[in-house]
Amino acid sequence: MPHSVAPYVPTPQNIVNRMLKLSGAGPDDVVYDLGCGDGRILITAVEEFEVKKAVGYDLNPTMCGNVQVKVDERGLADRIEIVNGNFFLADLSQASVVTLYLTTSGNTKLKPKLEKELRPGARVVSHDFPIRGWETVKNDPPDHYIVGSHKIYVYEVPCSYDAKTSIPRTEEEDSRWKRIRDLFLRSEGEA
Ligand SMILES: C[S@@+](CC[C@H](N)C(=O)[O-])C[C@H]1O[C@@H](n2cnc3c(N)ncnc32)[C@H](O)[C@@H]1O
Repeated sequence: MPHSVAPYVPTPQNIVNRMLKLSGAGPDDVVYDLGCGDGRILITAVEEFEVKKAVGYDLNPTMCGNVQVKVDERGLADRIEIVNGNFFLADLSQASVVTLYLTTSGNTKLKPKLEKELRPGARVVSHDFPIRGWETVKNDPPDHYIVGSHKIYVYEVPCSYDAKTSIPRTEEEDSRWKRIRDLFLRSEGEA
């Protein structure tokens, strides 16, 4: 099991805001920051984007302790959970937005877990480092994905990797699939 996959470097606050905005984070979301550092993504997600819940994992006990103090002082303990532990052990099934600022090789190690555990529709936003083999939501990112010298990669589950992992259908399979789909659509219309 991988252990530390990135050193501590904070994401600048304007990039935090842009990451959360591009993820579409809002009141229905549960945000996981994997490697939460000083907790700025979690606090911004709850205070400014009003997400339902934010969960942060970090290996560094001192940082986790400091974040917990900040969270308690701001009265956010019911909405922000800090776990001093390895995020490779986290259960990501409740996450609808995952934020990352790791390394490209760290993202590669994390990728199978994201593909296995995240629910359809979940967004993954990575600061500066892509997830190799996944397609960003927009293939040709417009300017707002690049802020100064920073890059923001936005992915969605499963469409960012499905086209690559799915086995192409034969013509016969395709026409069978269309017949089944039509039957479903008709039965839904009749219901
Ligand atoms: C570059 S910092 C990002 C901090 C914060 N997410 C931000 O963007 O401001 C990466 C953090 O990931 C943590 N980290 C690295 N590998 C980890 C692992 N396997 N489990 C938990 N935390 C980890 C490090 O301790 C560090 O605080």
